[in-house]
Amino acid sequence: MDITHQPTTHILLTDIHQLPDGKSAGFSITIDKHTLELFVVNFRGCFYAYENHCPHTGVNLNWQTDQFLDITEQRIQCSTHGALFRINDGLCEWGPCVGQSLRAMNVLERGGQLLLRLDA
Ligand code: FES
Repeated sequence: MDITHQPTTHILLTDIHQLPDGKSAGFSITIDKHTLELFVVNFRGCFYAYENHCPHTGVNLNWQTDQFLDITEQRIQCSTHGALFRINDGLCEWGPCVGQSLRAMNVLERGGQLLLRLDA
């Protein structure tokens, strides 16, 4: 989903009903001609967002559109070498970048919508 940024501290990502429990979604946001790639995971009703860059080589994590989780839907998985990251804090627990973390982004739920907060 491509989104062009308007000057504000919050950017609408999606309606939360579009992201049910156990699912993930990727977003591409343009800010001052710079593109920010991120993804959001709904894990047990809580939303977690990270930049879409693996700490191992910097590539995007997903292997298909909106596919960021392993088969159990309990971990974020890098499609390139299979690193597994905890959903709640982005820490790599298995793979070539163990101990490194995904860069967290701030998201919040307001009025049934999921917003990206840029001033944090
Ligand atoms: S690029 Fe992600 S684990 Fe190697």
